[in-house]
Amino acid sequence: MEELQNKLNQIDMSRLPRHVAIIMDGNGRWAKLRGEDRCMGHVEGVNSVRKATELSSDLGIDYLTLYAFSTENWNRPQQEVDALMHLIGMAIERETPDLIKNNVHLNLIGALDRMPKEAYDRLRRCELATAHCTGLTMTLALSYSSRWEIVEAVKKIAASVKSGKISETDIDDNIFAQYLATCDMPDPDLLIRTGGDNRISNYLLWQIAYSELYFTRTLWPDFGKAEYADAIIEYQQRERRYGKTSEQVQQES
Ligand code: IPE
Ligand code: IPE
Ligand code: MG
Repeated sequence: MEELQNKLNQIDMSRLPRHVAIIMDGNGRWAKLRGEDRCMGHVEGVNSVRKATELSSDLGIDYLTLYAFSTENWNRPQQEVDALMHLIGMAIERETPDLIKNNVHLNLIGALDRMPKEAYDRLRRCELATAHCTGLTMTLALSYSSRWEIVEAVKKIAASVKSGKISETDIDDNIFAQYLATCDMPDPDLLIRTGGDNRISNYLLWQIAYSELYFTRTLWPDFGKAEYADAIIEYQQRERRYGKTSEQVQQES
């Protein structure tokens, strides 16, 4: 507890990331290390989701976007997919009262029509029940992949041009971003991946163009508030230059 408080004291509250995105990886390995079934790792991973949500909310971060299930994850053994879908639905239903208490609004991105009805209904109920919450926006990326999202955006833009809603010459970075599932959010400032792999796995490819990337070997079920604080502290030590020189950036600040 004291260790966490020490870390929290190191966070500069005036320079918080507005949007944190997390690739929550390493549940299976966490379980395997304990001789348990992979699904035990997913069950334990829900606790880390709660901790990350709580700390984001307490600090006053506006957006937390969690990669919970990728398009590619549909290719896992059916038994694991079924267990994950059930777990996600159950967890979100159980957590809904606390989300409301903490003023957290649930947002969903991904091809949700591929989800089993039971989980889909539970997610939508939570989305509705938290729609009035004005604090943290917690987005779950489910049945999500960035290439899917970009292709969907291209299809919608093509339809808009065809119907005359926009013209081809209107299309620029800003217009394109408005057609993505993340249209209402700023780009992530900080992207965290747990589990030790240094890759993006089809997550928010457009949106992370200038995000600070933070990779940790910590497996997701072991990623608590202190580890999250570490990531924020490191983020605050980075200089974001956006193509400019360090001197320019320092002059501007
Ligand atoms: C992340 O943990 C959770 C999901 C992808 C749903 P994994 O299940 O990928 O765990 P590892 O990477 O196999 O350890
Ligand atoms: C990325 O983890 C997807 C989620 C965390 C939901 P994976 O475990 O699926 O990633 P790869 O397959 O190792 O790249
Ligand atoms: Mg993995």
